[in-house]
Amino acid sequence: MTLTMGDSISPFLFMDKNKLPQHVAIIMDGNGRWASARGLGRTQGHMEGVKRIQEIIKTAHDIGIKFLTIYAFSTENWKRPSDEVSMIMRTFIAVLGQKAKDLGRNGIRINFIGRRTGVPDEVLKAIDQAVHLTMNNSSMTLNIAFNYGARAEIIDAVKSIVSLAREDKLNADSIDEQLISSHLYTRGQPDPDLLIRTSGEERISNFLLWQLSYAELYFTDKCWPDFTESEFHKALDNYTQRERRWGTIRVPG
Ligand code: FPP
Repeated sequence: MTLTMGDSISPFLFMDKNKLPQHVAIIMDGNGRWASARGLGRTQGHMEGVKRIQEIIKTAHDIGIKFLTIYAFSTENWKRPSDEVSMIMRTFIAVLGQKAKDLGRNGIRINFIGRRTGVPDEVLKAIDQAVHLTMNNSSMTLNIAFNYGARAEIIDAVKSIVSLAREDKLNADSIDEQLISSHLYTRGQPDPDLLIRTSGEERISNFLLWQLSYAELYFTDKCWPDFTESEFHKALDNYTQRERRWGTIRVPG
């Protein structure tokens, strides 16, 4: 390969591939702001955002990331104007319908995390079909957080633990971190190593509150529609250079 002045070199070439995260979670923020900065409607921002979702899923899979969790729709997003909510629902159904087979052919398992209650039937049907179509795949798990809220998830976990206790299937002394993790929507999966949030906002916004306890956080000013493969590589490169300590002290040397 010959490089000439002005060529930008992808950080992916040089990053330590042994240090790549196993699980990446993403808050895809800024579709609306990206659109309004260009004099476009929010719908166009979401459409461009959907293209980036597809690219980032492919990149994550090609790199060998085993779990990718994306925040598609929160329990709070229902408060948006009803025409935007309907547009997101229609887009979601259409994209799932078109892409689930492709993802499935590539060995990707689609998993949904979130509450089913309150989600329209047509959306649940699209979700169930995508999950069914890809259920035997194992090269990467794509968690789509839809009607997701971390506090709701923790409430659901507590309810399920309490009902086991009522049936005398467990006692209070056996409640530990592992037990709680095993009652979350992400049961059986490792916690995210890296959380990425786009658009300059530096908040967790009720996303994976339990699971992100020791995640490395990466914030970028890029709005989601500008979060290209090379931006993703930058985030991964940044992650590989961090020293993870899980609450322990730094050992000099
Ligand atoms: C972020 O921008 C908005 C979203 C991540 C919601 C978009 C979801 C879809 C288009 C559904 C399709 C999803 C899949 C997985 C097929 P924002 O509206 O919060 O932007 P703003 O903060 O600039 O207003």
